[in-house]
Amino acid sequence: MLKSQAWKWVKRKLKMMRLNQAFKEPYKRIEGLSNFENQKVAKLNLNENFFIPREKLFELIIEALEDLDPRLYPQDEGETLRDKISEYVDFPADNIVIGNGGDELLERIAHLFLEKGEQAITISPTFSTYRFAVNLQRAKLIEVPLREDFSLDVDGLLSNVTPKTKVLFLCSPNNPTANQFEIDEITFISESFPGVVVVDEAYVEFADYSAAPLIKKYENLIVVRTFSKAFGLAGLRLGYCIADTEIARVLSEGVSPPFPVNMVSLKVGAKILENIALFKEAVLKIRKEREKLVKALNDINGVKAFDSKTNFVLFKTEKPLDDVYNSLLQRRVIVRKIGDVLGFQNCLRATVGLPWMNAKLIDALREICS
Ligand SMILES: Cc1ncc(COP(=O)(O)O)c(C=O)c1O
Repeated sequence: MLKSQAWKWVKRKLKMMRLNQAFKEPYKRIEGLSNFENQKVAKLNLNENFFIPREKLFELIIEALEDLDPRLYPQDEGETLRDKISEYVDFPADNIVIGNGGDELLERIAHLFLEKGEQAITISPTFSTYRFAVNLQRAKLIEVPLREDFSLDVDGLLSNVTPKTKVLFLCSPNNPTANQFEIDEITFISESFPGVVVVDEAYVEFADYSAAPLIKKYENLIVVRTFSKAFGLAGLRLGYCIADTEIARVLSEGVSPPFPVNMVSLKVGAKILENIALFKEAVLKIRKEREKLVKALNDINGVKAFDSKTNFVLFKTEKPLDDVYNSLLQRRVIVRKIGDVLGFQNCLRATVGLPWMNAKLIDALREICS
């Protein structure tokens, strides 16, 4: 192929990817975020966890890396972490797959189970990676709206299933609505859906129950989890999923690069699980702060906050979305713009931050909204 021909082909390919929407929505970079805690910026846009002090996490990281030899490819570190996760989730290690964040595992799952022209189904609104992962396979994603009270429309989901529908993604608790779906409904869906059901439990530690025990009965169920939320490790990109052993083996060995996760993250992940009490304590604090935050938001005129089973809160304002968002930014409070959620307009999402962060959000909203 002549060079110019090759380049034309490359450009066609890139255009196709754009048309196919297989693009991640870039996270908007916000200036001046280094050292945000000292600068008193309430960074509440990405559901990160600030309840484990950075110094403490650093201590654990240094301990974990004492015998690190970065010249080597990861060796036993993956197995060690799998054993620790196995203990944490009470499933044999053969059921566990470790990945470079929950996102990467969702992509691996889509890669394994979806082909061009096939379909996946999910709820709306929900986490955007499902769309990205499905588009990457050149499959189609059907979105079935939640009911006005954010509950699942189980009939709606199942009535949209066709012979082409291979994967069903459920985020529970759901991002951005923050509610957890009924376990009976997840059971019914796992039993009725003629393909693979993926339950994304990124926020499960902040919720009431897990769908994972259902895997013992329904081999078509995969539960995806992350170290980014309850374990405060978003920057090290570590996630895992729990699946039937045959599925787990192919997800680990078949549709995975040879060394998907770096040695540092593997070692730190294991160290975190050795110190699980510290993280459980932080989760308890987040739950308590969450209840206070929901109440304080609801006490502001012109603001309505929804209940949450996650480490973030969805709220709506009477004032226009962009005005509220920009006014918060001016006051050094960063939240996530969501927009319309079913019948609710001007919705924003805020991480449950440290008490001073939440106070800053509340004070700012009181000024802006009431
Ligand atoms: C529902 C949900 N799933 C998965 C993820 C991604 O997790 P990770 O950081 O492990 O890729 C997020 C991140 O915000 C999320 O909200």
